[in-house]
Amino acid sequence: MTRSQPPQQSSPERSGSEAVTRRASSLLAEYRTFVTRAVREPSTIGAVLPSSPVLAREMAAVVPSADRPVVVELGPGTGALSGAIAQRVPEGGRHIAVEVDPGMCEHLRNTCPGLEVIEGDAKRLGQLLADSGIRSVDAVVSGLPWSLFAGESQRRILREVGNVLAPGGGFTTIAYAHALGLSGARLFRRRLGAIFDEVITSRTVWRNVPPARVYVCRRPVPSGQ
Ligand SMILES: C[S@@+](CC[C@H](N)C(=O)[O-])C[C@H]1O[C@@H](n2cnc3c(N)ncnc32)[C@H](O)[C@@H]1O
Repeated sequence: MTRSQPPQQSSPERSGSEAVTRRASSLLAEYRTFVTRAVREPSTIGAVLPSSPVLAREMAAVVPSADRPVVVELGPGTGALSGAIAQRVPEGGRHIAVEVDPGMCEHLRNTCPGLEVIEGDAKRLGQLLADSGIRSVDAVVSGLPWSLFAGESQRRILREVGNVLAPGGGFTTIAYAHALGLSGARLFRRRLGAIFDEVITSRTVWRNVPPARVYVCRRPVPSGQ
């Protein structure tokens, strides 16, 4: 007669350390994908490390945490901002990511359940959303590498964001603190001001590499250039 074994119970210490190991290996997978894509496509990725969780929370604060918001994330990369956004989107809301890099899209589809991944260029945001049956959105969170884009591309993407944003909606984007005084960054700030009636700059988030601020933009100007 064989005696059945009692089910193995893992001690709280063991399950705690298993959770830490799982988190460490998923972070490692995220960093591996990010760095591989950044080396292969430096002119598209535009950063060497994903954003930190602290910066992600600051960026995601624009996402409404009530009703059924439609939220768009631009340039999600490996999803460094996606978790913080997903935590705020209530049940029934939609979280859509527009990412141009196929390798990043594959990573997101494998690792971010609930995220609707659209492989495409943010320059075509309005059309991409219309193809998914969406006319207006409540929040846009951008991880796009603005400094890699020519002026006309910056203007075009910002106009697309302004066009899809619902009244009362908000848009956040990252500005690296060390570069704020550079002419390209000042020009970008002026472009934001030409498209949005309100642009608020956050305090510096030091726990990010490199330290960064967040621009929070609201009320797109209809004729904004
Ligand atoms: C610097 S990474 C940011 C990743 C992540 N959001 C973060 O904060 O760590 C920029 C991402 O934007 C994507 N990207 C660049 N140009 C794009 C475009 N025109 N449309 C959509 N995504 C774009 C890149 O492929 C890359 O994944």
